[in-house]
Amino acid sequence: MSSQSIFRPSFGNRPDRIVGRESVMEDFATGLSKQPGNRERARLLIGQRGMGKTALLLEMADLARTSNFITARTTCGPSMLDNILDLLQRHGGPVVAEKKPPVKGFNAGALGFSFGLTFTDEARANYGFRVKLEMICERLAEAGKGVLLLIDEVRPELPEMRLLATTYQELAGEGFNIAVVMAGLPAIISEVLDEATLTFLHRSTKVELGPLSVQAVRAYYHSAFMRAHRPIDESLLSKAAEATQGFPYLLQLLGFYLLEYSPEGEPVSAEALESAIHAALYDFDQDVLGAMLRPLSPADRAFLEAMAQDDRVSHVADLQDRLGVSQGHVQSYRRRLMDAGVIYSPARGQLAFIVPRLGAYISNEML
Ligand SMILES: Nc1ncnc2c1ncn2[C@@H]1O[C@H](COP(=O)(O)OP(=O)(O)OP(=O)(O)O)[C@@H](O)[C@H]1O
Ligand SMILES: [Mg+2]
Repeated sequence: MSSQSIFRPSFGNRPDRIVGRESVMEDFATGLSKQPGNRERARLLIGQRGMGKTALLLEMADLARTSNFITARTTCGPSMLDNILDLLQRHGGPVVAEKKPPVKGFNAGALGFSFGLTFTDEARANYGFRVKLEMICERLAEAGKGVLLLIDEVRPELPEMRLLATTYQELAGEGFNIAVVMAGLPAIISEVLDEATLTFLHRSTKVELGPLSVQAVRAYYHSAFMRAHRPIDESLLSKAAEATQGFPYLLQLLGFYLLEYSPEGEPVSAEALESAIHAALYDFDQDVLGAMLRPLSPADRAFLEAMAQDDRVSHVADLQDRLGVSQGHVQSYRRRLMDAGVIYSPARGQLAFIVPRLGAYISNEML
């Protein structure tokens, strides 16, 4: 493998290796083995940008395929339901396809299908998503296959999400071998939602994706730098792993720059590591922290700026004074920003940034 292809700092791609997350994958596999309708069969991955949601969906789709599931992975949006059907037909068609193509005028396939998982013109024209998905599930079940839907960037407010939620619940309730994994930003479960979607999201098994353990990152870096023919000593290795703070995207960025700045065959130097950390953090701030702040209102930003004046932990009472607002006001900012996955409360009356660097980033931006 070329050393430059080990680290791929971008979004939505498949990493060289999924670091950490073993328990997330094990729980997912266990969930798939449960009875249809079991709560463990509907999962919701929640994590900030760059925390590895899409990478995990890709990994889960692979794993499911080895356990007799046909998968459809799509981004949540207006064309999501069509995509799901198209993908299931495409991936599942070959496993149910007849040996011989049907003779014209004679329907050799199951009712409603002309061939494989291709609907007859009549079925295509007359049925909606709910019935079509049921037909596909039924047909795949005959071939011993289940169906796994993977929905990325969940937007609970969309009507398509509501239809997906009710369809999933109905089919699972009828005993079809169907499972679903959804992924989204922390804010999605707290928005004002359509009742059916909200219930669905709340009933699913929530998986909060936090930072990876620094030990896991260290072990991965150790093997990756060996493969890339850049020996790295123990203390620099620890320093590099710690600098990632367990953020998958930062892991990719730092690894990438470190290889860029270290000639192949030569040991990694302290200077190269310093420069790589600097470059990686710069990109991380722009790509992740910038994206986190962009959707926030000016008032929410002002609240975060007030928090940024403190060292790590802010006291609600101080923020109230600093902003000159009432306690009720502070509570509503607190709620909104916690829902958005930007801050958390380490103890009663205290607030802190979920990504510690955000404070420094905000202070710099204000300069
Ligand atoms: N567990 C992991 N180990 C190693 N690399 C990872 C891991 N998870 C994700 N990555 C890498 O980190 C980067 C960001 O991951 P990904 O795109 O999956 O994040 P995301 O949570 O989907 O972000 P967004 O909310 O912006 O869609 C990608 O380059 C991906 O390959
Ligand atoms: Mg993603």
